[in-house]
Amino acid sequence: MQEIKSLSHWIKASGFTVILTGAGMSTESGLPDFRSKSGWWRNIDPSTVATVDALETNYSLFHDFYSMRLKTLEACSPHEGHYILAEWEKRNLVHSIVTQNVDGFHKAAGSSRVYELHGSLRSIRCSGCGKPGTVEDFLDRVACRSCGERLRPGVVLFGEMLPQDAWECALRDIKRADLVIVIGTSLQVYPANQLPTMTKGRAVLINYEAYSGGSRFDMVLQGKARDTLIELNRIIHKSKVS
Ligand code: OAD
Repeated sequence: MQEIKSLSHWIKASGFTVILTGAGMSTESGLPDFRSKSGWWRNIDPSTVATVDALETNYSLFHDFYSMRLKTLEACSPHEGHYILAEWEKRNLVHSIVTQNVDGFHKAAGSSRVYELHGSLRSIRCSGCGKPGTVEDFLDRVACRSCGERLRPGVVLFGEMLPQDAWECALRDIKRADLVIVIGTSLQVYPANQLPTMTKGRAVLINYEAYSGGSRFDMVLQGKARDTLIELNRIIHKSKVS
């Protein structure tokens, strides 16, 4: 409790706060994460579905996996925590959101400065010519209407480069931040996991599972993303009116 209060003070005192999110930000929306007990990678080997090799040599499995991800996503929506972060941006409590998530929930909740490091599940494009396609065509396994090649989701596969724009904006903002709040990530995937160490400001982790990665954070709050953001928001609002 005392830590949440301290964090609310840090948020109000910071002139430039950046949020970095991972799949744990969206589990309370109903989307599985990757490495928890019920995460995607507990039952599926990522090398068989989430690589360029899988796209090129095992399209059937690749397509089944991303169709399942898309259908799961269609049934879910942003939760209160996503909306709180969007409201904080409007109130200048948050400058930008850097996310590893491909669900689009930060933008859907109203955040405008969002850097999607791993792309977006719903941005379908042709794996050959790169022209945009539709989710419906992808799900129906229709080929690219321009060149006949296979459609794919606009996510970063293992072995691919991160979108350069998103990465550069993320790096620029994290470097100059007074405060970086990392939410719901196991910090296992490079290069996003390097970002918390690159700030000149404070770094805070909010995560459900205990963190065992050493001393890179100034504060670690063990808890759920949605609950913690609701509590932080309550304290920030309360201190505003009193
Ligand atoms: P992980 O599944 O590796 O980690 C999610 C973390 O969120 C875990 O430590 C959970 O304990 C925590 N968590 C789960 N629910 C939570 C909640 N309600 N509140 C707070 N924390 C919660 O997911 P990421 O770290 O995002 O990349 O994974 C990084 C990347 O690995 C993904 O973007 C994806 C994956 O392979 C690609 O596919 C390129």
